[in-house]
Amino acid sequence: MKDERVSTGIPEMDVLLGGGLERKVISQFYGDPGCGKSTLCQIAAVAVLRTGCSVVYFDPEGFSVERFRQVAGSDAEPLAERLFLYEPLDFDQQGLLLAESEKVLKRGKVGLFVVDTATVLYRAELSSGKEAQRKLARQVILLLGLSRRYDLPVLITNQVYMDVVRNVSAPLGGTILSHLSKAIVRIEVHEGYRRAVLEKHRSLPAGGSFDFEITGDGIRGVSRP
Ligand SMILES: Nc1ncnc2c1ncn2[C@@H]1O[C@H](COP(=O)(O)OP(=O)(O)OP(=O)(O)O)[C@@H](O)[C@H]1O
Ligand SMILES: [Mg+2]
Repeated sequence: MKDERVSTGIPEMDVLLGGGLERKVISQFYGDPGCGKSTLCQIAAVAVLRTGCSVVYFDPEGFSVERFRQVAGSDAEPLAERLFLYEPLDFDQQGLLLAESEKVLKRGKVGLFVVDTATVLYRAELSSGKEAQRKLARQVILLLGLSRRYDLPVLITNQVYMDVVRNVSAPLGGTILSHLSKAIVRIEVHEGYRRAVLEKHRSLPAGGSFDFEITGDGIRGVSRP
């Protein structure tokens, strides 16, 4: 049987996810600003690029070439040749580019599809109410279709908002995004360290976690008493 999982480039994250990112589904990392979402995406992208596959990478916030260099090290230039980067400027353009990116997938050998942060442009459109929700749903369903047709793991990141009723910070995008993400990892910021917590998974109990620090070249797992 074909190995269904794709390494995130972080051994502790692979264990947390039951072996890595699952193909044909969307996995979601979410958390506060600066918790490490983009770093985790870049580490996963570099790990897949190192296997010889290509990566499609959406970054509506503007891709940090400098951070990519730090994470990829001396391989950065050759690896970047197989990184197909899209930087949409608004939510409608993001939808159009997601559809257009299928051209890259058709050429084959794409090992990972990243959208970091999937909801930042959605957030900017939220004042338009239901229409933004419908567009988000369309984009996520489109992504799911691509992941299935091309046997791909899709990794998205998501921001949080303050849910004043429950008095907790919750991921954006409502139930549609939570339902369509088959693995969800919450990244918490604690004094001096971060914690990745498995919030939802298809074949593992929720609640597993590991602690890490962000470092010059990526992240490092830390053990805490
Ligand atoms: N070279 C580095 N060495 C150590 N820490 C770094 C380095 N580069 C970035 N960081 C730290 O990483 C954190 C930002 O990580 P990252 O950009 O992955 O977070 P994010 O969750 O994507 O944030 P945002 O919500 O703003 O997109 C910051 O705390 C920053 O100080
Ligand atoms: Mg980021």
